[in-house]
Amino acid sequence: MKTVTAGTIGLTGLAGCTGGGGSEATTTTTDATTETTESMDGGDTTTEGESSTDYKPLEVQHWWTGGDGNKAVTALFEGFKQKYPDIKLKENPVPGGGGTNLHTVIKKRVLNNNPPSSWQAWPGKNLQPFVEAGKLKDIGDSVWSKNGMKDAYLKGPKDAAKPGGKFVTVPINIHRLNNLFYNKKVVEKAGVDPASISKPSDLVAAMKKVENNTDAVGMAHSTKHPWPTLDLWEAVLLGEYGRNTYQAVAEGKIAENQQAVKGALQTVKDYKQYFNEDNGSVSWTEANTKVINGEAAFYQQGDWAAGMYRGQDGFEFGTHWDQVSFPGSKGVYAFNMDSFPFPKNNPSPKATEKFLQYCGSVDAQERFNPKKGSIPPRTDVPKDEFGPFLQRQMDDFKNSKAQVPSITHGLAVAPEPLTGMKDATATFTSDWNVDKTFQQMKQAFN
Ligand code: GAL
Repeated sequence: MKTVTAGTIGLTGLAGCTGGGGSEATTTTTDATTETTESMDGGDTTTEGESSTDYKPLEVQHWWTGGDGNKAVTALFEGFKQKYPDIKLKENPVPGGGGTNLHTVIKKRVLNNNPPSSWQAWPGKNLQPFVEAGKLKDIGDSVWSKNGMKDAYLKGPKDAAKPGGKFVTVPINIHRLNNLFYNKKVVEKAGVDPASISKPSDLVAAMKKVENNTDAVGMAHSTKHPWPTLDLWEAVLLGEYGRNTYQAVAEGKIAENQQAVKGALQTVKDYKQYFNEDNGSVSWTEANTKVINGEAAFYQQGDWAAGMYRGQDGFEFGTHWDQVSFPGSKGVYAFNMDSFPFPKNNPSPKATEKFLQYCGSVDAQERFNPKKGSIPPRTDVPKDEFGPFLQRQMDDFKNSKAQVPSITHGLAVAPEPLTGMKDATATFTSDWNVDKTFQQMKQAFN
């Protein structure tokens, strides 16, 4: 595998992994260290003739704590421990939705050649600088040739697992971004039919109706960190201006799409008066509880929000909550994924191989995804465990006329411009200045 020395493009790109915009960059992080002392080059590993006593402890980092996917990752680790009882697994979570804090920890550890065994990472462009810096191992044979992975995976996730042409990571899920979740009782009381809202700008009138006719706010939202607002903006961009414009913007063509970029910002600004008042101090999970409690009507989020509903007793799909495609984006599946990469200098190469092979298996994806609110990247995972909402997402995925990768969740945009986009959004949610944010977004790709 190609290696690129420090100071070249690879490490410059990796530097873009820090921060994450405004307040995110200053959040306290725990810079975890591995317990193992021996550092081995992952490139030398072999599973030939290994015995269980060869396994070094596995350290896996992720941000799935509390309502943000903890039940799902616990189920995944349980399944792994059942299959490999001899491998010691050390979970080392770094809380913070959208990777707010974990990105910084990982970048630092990888640059210091002290990576964990694996970590939660968006595949695709997000991993590009790691590949360019020569920090990830080619696992085409050691992992991807097992469990029928190459045949069973959908093409999109398979491609995303090869950001530089070689397999370096294992996607475990597919999340959808262009959702509009809603509390059914609230919208019924308000006399609003979410399915009839045909474009993002029309949501303003619907939210006004909610606030006139109920005690709930129009939209649950969190501006504590920039990513949920960037998420909302990308959903508006897609719904109001279409997928070609969305994709051009994801490629950095901000100036060429000035009207759409600014128009989507203005629509988000129009939504603002219908947000919960404490939007600046709550996390995305706390905002989501407002939908659960009936304090808010609508919520735009990835379907990890539905993972949270599933874990909530007495809050049933179809009775208490439902979802429509974000207005204007029906037939399009805006998606992101989570994956587990294999770093070089791996503290536990053999155990990591086993873990990644497991993540690529039917068993792992069947345990993890129903609880996570995502659908599996393998095509042969039985559907029974997924329940009616995720089965509908699977159908929507299958029938979608287009699948577009997320900007905010790292699939379509590399870490450096993404950090710039998040910085622009952090400024936006403090001064709500459309023109200034447009200029900053343009700068993000320069
Ligand atoms: C996404 C991630 C999801 C979920 C979400 C909220 O980036 O892919 O798995 O955790 O952030 O934190």
